[in-house]
Amino acid sequence: MQKKTFIIANWKMNMSVNNANKFIKKLDKLNYKKKKFKEIVICAQFLLLPSLSKISRKNILLGSQDCHHEPQGAFTGDSSIDLIKFFKCKYVIVGHSERRKYHYESNHLIKKKIDLISIKNLIPILCIGESLEERKSKKYKEKIYGQLNESVSNKIKKLVIAYEPIWSIGTGKIPSYDEISEISNLIKNFFVKFRKNCDLSIVYGGSVDSLNFRKISEIKNINGALIGGSSLKYSELKKIVSSIN
Ligand code: PGA
Repeated sequence: MQKKTFIIANWKMNMSVNNANKFIKKLDKLNYKKKKFKEIVICAQFLLLPSLSKISRKNILLGSQDCHHEPQGAFTGDSSIDLIKFFKCKYVIVGHSERRKYHYESNHLIKKKIDLISIKNLIPILCIGESLEERKSKKYKEKIYGQLNESVSNKIKKLVIAYEPIWSIGTGKIPSYDEISEISNLIKNFFVKFRKNCDLSIVYGGSVDSLNFRKISEIKNINGALIGGSSLKYSELKKIVSSIN
């Protein structure tokens, strides 16, 4: 069976309401060969979601970039999973390295978020990956194994894992295809052995653009990409879409 490819855009804290609306309307009109695409997801910052959710879309799904681990309560400044769902998100990114770095998110906290997202029938996109020091000192496998083990429980039925080496995010440096392949096999084996009941997809993230997207997506056990910087440029995203169409 031909493998189906995810394109997941992580817009981070970018885009105005007007530009985001225009972008999605245009992107939705591209001609998608449904057999080849798994899903095309735009993960936008919270305040764009109400407006984006009103746009009628045939091809593009929405996702958020985080959520709180409790359903509601006294958590000033946070956003709840129910509102994320109300504004038509199907996916939620969790554990992005920028959240781990700037908001000190631990695997323990990320596990609670994944549990809540799954209970609400949305799909978590869990970001994992090693730092440059961990890669150089050959501790990267341990790190990734620990992130999986501590944040994904046996109860999770559907999950996307984004392997995003921290040193590759926004730097233009990507691991070799063999290195990506090694990690995607490690992730796959972990699930086959320890989390058998989970419907898993693995994507790669970190400096993905229209030149490297296709080759990366062809790696065994990789089902597409989580794309930051390049997903903000319409012409780039269009080229990425047409590279698998
Ligand atoms: P990048 O970001 O594509 O700009 O490297 C990816 C990400 O942070 O998800």
